[in-house]
Amino acid sequence: MTDPRAGGIAIFDFGSQYTQLIARRVRELGVYAEVFSFDAPLEQVGRHQPRGYIFSGGPNSVYDDGSPQIPDYALNSLPALGICYGMQAMTRAFGGVVAGSTTREYGSARVHHHDESPLFAGIAPELDVWMSHGDRIERPPQGFIPIAASENSPFAAMGDPTRKQYAVQFHPEVVHTPRGREILYNFVFGICECEANWSAGAFIQDQIHAVRERVGDQRVLLALSGGVDSAVAGVLLHQAVGDQLTCVFVDTGMMRKGEPEQVTRVFGGQQHMNLIAVNATEQFLDTLDGVTEPEAKRKRIGRLFIDIFSEQARGLADAGVKFLAQGTIYPDVIESAANSKTAKVIKSHHNVGGLPEDLHFELVEPLRDLFKDEVRKVGEALGLPASIVWRQPFPGPGLAVRCLGEITWDRLETLREADAIFTAELESYDSALAAQYFAVLLPVKSVGVMGDNRTYEEVIALRAVTTDDFMTADWARLPYDVLARASSRIVNQVRGVNRVVYDVTSKPPGTIEWE
Ligand code: XMP
Repeated sequence: MTDPRAGGIAIFDFGSQYTQLIARRVRELGVYAEVFSFDAPLEQVGRHQPRGYIFSGGPNSVYDDGSPQIPDYALNSLPALGICYGMQAMTRAFGGVVAGSTTREYGSARVHHHDESPLFAGIAPELDVWMSHGDRIERPPQGFIPIAASENSPFAAMGDPTRKQYAVQFHPEVVHTPRGREILYNFVFGICECEANWSAGAFIQDQIHAVRERVGDQRVLLALSGGVDSAVAGVLLHQAVGDQLTCVFVDTGMMRKGEPEQVTRVFGGQQHMNLIAVNATEQFLDTLDGVTEPEAKRKRIGRLFIDIFSEQARGLADAGVKFLAQGTIYPDVIESAANSKTAKVIKSHHNVGGLPEDLHFELVEPLRDLFKDEVRKVGEALGLPASIVWRQPFPGPGLAVRCLGEITWDRLETLREADAIFTAELESYDSALAAQYFAVLLPVKSVGVMGDNRTYEEVIALRAVTTDDFMTADWARLPYDVLARASSRIVNQVRGVNRVVYDVTSKPPGTIEWE
């Protein structure tokens, strides 16, 4: 088989928060890109015969003691693009001068490119870019000519066309550099002469091959949650190792209407995967009995989940299962800095964390380098149903954190029905109106009237938000008609509810979930 990763771009990571974003941008152009530590050996970096190098940004100053440097083998051997710190490291390595700038340049800036450089081919001379640097280039190395300037950086970009070495002080990979995609396009295709042959299909073939090599004839265990990441990882692994994969799905009783059935139908039925479905509803209801405090709910659910999953895992380990697969994706690891020697640690992240220490599985994480939308493309290419591929985020503790107050089976059923009605009404109108939408059951009773009778029942709050990243969000301006239909159906059809309210709180100060 020809290597589908061959002929791409190798990215050297100097610790920037944006390094994986560079890789993603290159992959979006249809070219394979892989991130390596700045000091990775040539055997590793050269394994897939890259056609070009990118040196990422980073938090250091090039003259700091122990600051990361470009390895000798990567200087001048292939076409290269230095970005921010990568530019400064190139300048130093090739004998130019980098200086601490008196003015830190951070945020939007306007640069003017004044050269017919292939890096800026097809781009108007004035462009807006995103800067984030303290040091700057005082004198470019021999052979490099300035190709763009900003008010603060006379050398906002430089290049040595003969050796195909280029560098930019700004960040072409972020959306705040609107023409950044074209700059990377020019580098990847115009300068490195890569071919666009990387796609979700190529990724799948590549991972199938990699997983088979890694796993051999051993068995693999995966926890399926019903969410998109574990679903995509599961189907991918199943295509790679077939019946050597066993999936465990724990039904906590806290899922939305129809979800446990969907997991069994899709993975056990349509995909013919070995699926162990554990119905642990009773155990979860027991552990939540009388618990109303949100953090206590989360902790109890997390602990019980680990206990139940560990029990299954132990049984499978005893039966010889060696590998534990996880649907970890890049945003899960981004803050752990586990894949970078230079980025600052913000918090550590575990996916199925907390397994007992004596269970020594080897981890398989085929989606580890991908962003969520890339995972969705892979899911579509694998033929997963749209309802799974485009599933909204759903909290690990499930409906327990949307059923405020005490958790009982009846209250969960009430919430499930109301949620199903609201989501169906919104989806039949236009699901693109909100990025996430759901119902919340409040432990508050209010008086109402139905027919000739007084009612005294609980309240459903509807929540719908618009957001790009779920870190900040605004409440969705849903049409009154959608709210009216949802409200009327909920009050008429759902037992235990006589009032519906709509949450008009943005995040911050609110959170998306209520608990
Ligand atoms: P908040 O409520 O913090 O939610 O504004 C932000 C996003 O995260 C989801 N969320 C979770 N996802 N485990 C998860 O995997 C959790 O425990 C959890 N809690 C909240 C939430 O649905 C929203 O999309």
